[in-house]
Amino acid sequence: MDFQIDPSFIQPTEHRPKITISDAGSIPLIDLSPLLHHHIPSDPSDPAIPNEISSLIAAIGAACRDWGFFQVVNHGVDPQLLERIEAVAVEFFALPAEEKRKVKRDEVNPLGYYDSEHTKNVRDWKEVFDLVVREYDDGLLVLKNRWPEYPPAMRETCKDYIAVVEKLSYKLIELIALSLNLPAKCLNSFFKDSSSFFRLNYYNPCPTPDLVLGVGHHKDSIALTVLYQDQVGGLDVKRKSDGEWVRVKPIPNSYIINVGNIIQVWTNERYESVEHRASVNSEKARLSIPFFFLPTFSTNVKPLEELVSDENPAKYEEYNWRDYFSSHLGGNFKKMDKEDIQI
Ligand code: SIN
Ligand code: FE2
Repeated sequence: MDFQIDPSFIQPTEHRPKITISDAGSIPLIDLSPLLHHHIPSDPSDPAIPNEISSLIAAIGAACRDWGFFQVVNHGVDPQLLERIEAVAVEFFALPAEEKRKVKRDEVNPLGYYDSEHTKNVRDWKEVFDLVVREYDDGLLVLKNRWPEYPPAMRETCKDYIAVVEKLSYKLIELIALSLNLPAKCLNSFFKDSSSFFRLNYYNPCPTPDLVLGVGHHKDSIALTVLYQDQVGGLDVKRKSDGEWVRVKPIPNSYIINVGNIIQVWTNERYESVEHRASVNSEKARLSIPFFFLPTFSTNVKPLEELVSDENPAKYEEYNWRDYFSSHLGGNFKKMDKEDIQI
């Protein structure tokens, strides 16, 4: 019997997933183990920086410049915590639909569960649960977490996980600052009272994986994404050197890091936000858990003064992060189709 897929999921021909690239051509793999023995230096020109750390900073700089993406191992996050977050996510998505709908997002507050998002007018083949690290309500933009009753460990596990992944995000942002020859902590103050977001993505097996995408191609509008994925695989990154789509090979206990639009603006395009998408498959469900590291809502995002000059003038006008966020994600969720960018 032929399966008839709901046409709202079908990608235009040019965006349907085809992957031919081998693992060898995929995103850089960076070993963070030097951070297990050394502190992150505060000053990029400190002559006492150990070689291991200088090499690490250089590798991160090259990955951000050439790919906008990299994968990290030996990041110090306890594998048991990764198992715990994976387990609660799988348990949550396995609940009956009516149970998940009890924490469904609505037009006032976008947080919680949803299964019908569109990227560039095509429906994504995914289910999602979103929450914020810090709740927010200024009368117009309302971000209040909705905690499901099941699994009972969801709330505590998410909180434990977020505390750890936020620490890792700070380390990465400091290494990125150093790679730009800036003081390690020069970006940290933007993230005080951050508007960071945490997401669980669940991609059910799909009978027609070559016609649909779990998430259509997009760039992240955030500062930095720190993504954990299970061993199924499906994240495709558009390689900057030739525009080919490459599949990121799952590595146990690793994270995939990508710079988002905010870093692109801060660095005046030294580091660009790169297109990516999530493919699905017909056999196995896939789980991915991105943490979106974001500045505080009051931040006005613009190229860093240290990175602009007469020869390299600012390529972007300043924009307010809260206003940008609410016009793209807050407000009217019926009209929420994103153009180029998705959080
Ligand atoms: C996304 O970029 O929104 C999802 C990526 C993934 O599931 O790997
Ligand atoms: Fe993304």
